[in-house]
Amino acid sequence: MFQDAETMRLTGHHAEGEPDEARLRAWYGTRADHDGRLDLAVVEKATGDVVGEAVPNEWDAGNEGCNCRIAFGPGAHGRGLGTKATRLIVRYRFERLGPHRISLEVYAFNPRARRVYEKVGFVPEGVLRDALLWEGERVDAALMSILAPGWFEHRGWPERVGRASSYKG
Ligand SMILES: CC(C)(COP(=O)(O)OP(=O)(O)OC[C@H]1O[C@@H](n2cnc3c(N)ncnc32)[C@H](O)[C@@H]1OP(=O)(O)O)[C@@H](O)C(=O)NCCC(=O)NCCS
Repeated sequence: MFQDAETMRLTGHHAEGEPDEARLRAWYGTRADHDGRLDLAVVEKATGDVVGEAVPNEWDAGNEGCNCRIAFGPGAHGRGLGTKATRLIVRYRFERLGPHRISLEVYAFNPRARRVYEKVGFVPEGVLRDALLWEGERVDAALMSILAPGWFEHRGWPERVGRASSYKG
């Protein structure tokens, strides 16, 4: 994942040079020491390979909110894994840990990720203008969120609930 230029672009990860394995191991090796985040590897059952990560982070206890990030390496994109992992991680948060709000940001040049978040029930809230500077170009980021009442109405399938729903995002 960290060696793939496209994944780094889509996540807005500014890296200098080759990924430093020792530094990455130190980073992942210390994540469990932090109370405000849960770094999970996504393992594809068919192969047993780690294909990416799903990370609820930035837990804000006072406001019962958190952020969420997800990224898969090349070869794992476009096969439905991201949608499934996002549904699982959002369900885990809402149904086991009880936040009110989960938010995330997605860059304007990443319509695939935006589609995944919309499918699971994230709603666009606004635009962070020129949030990213990537190879000389400034890129907007959409701010999206999902709230507990919406989740418990559609449980990750807002398009099934559709127009009959009282849920307004
Ligand atoms: C974003 C990511 C997690 C999505 O997971 P995924 O497994 O690739 O996505 P899925 O296959 O589950 O679903 C992709 C959806 O986007 C749609 N899609 C694909 N390309 C699209 C495009 N250019 N425009 C609009 N929709 C698009 C697909 O049709 C599908 O929707 P559908 O089920 O309604 O047909 C994954 O692609 C990834 O890790 N990308 C690199 C890192 C990244 O972008 N992370 C997110 C940062 S915010």
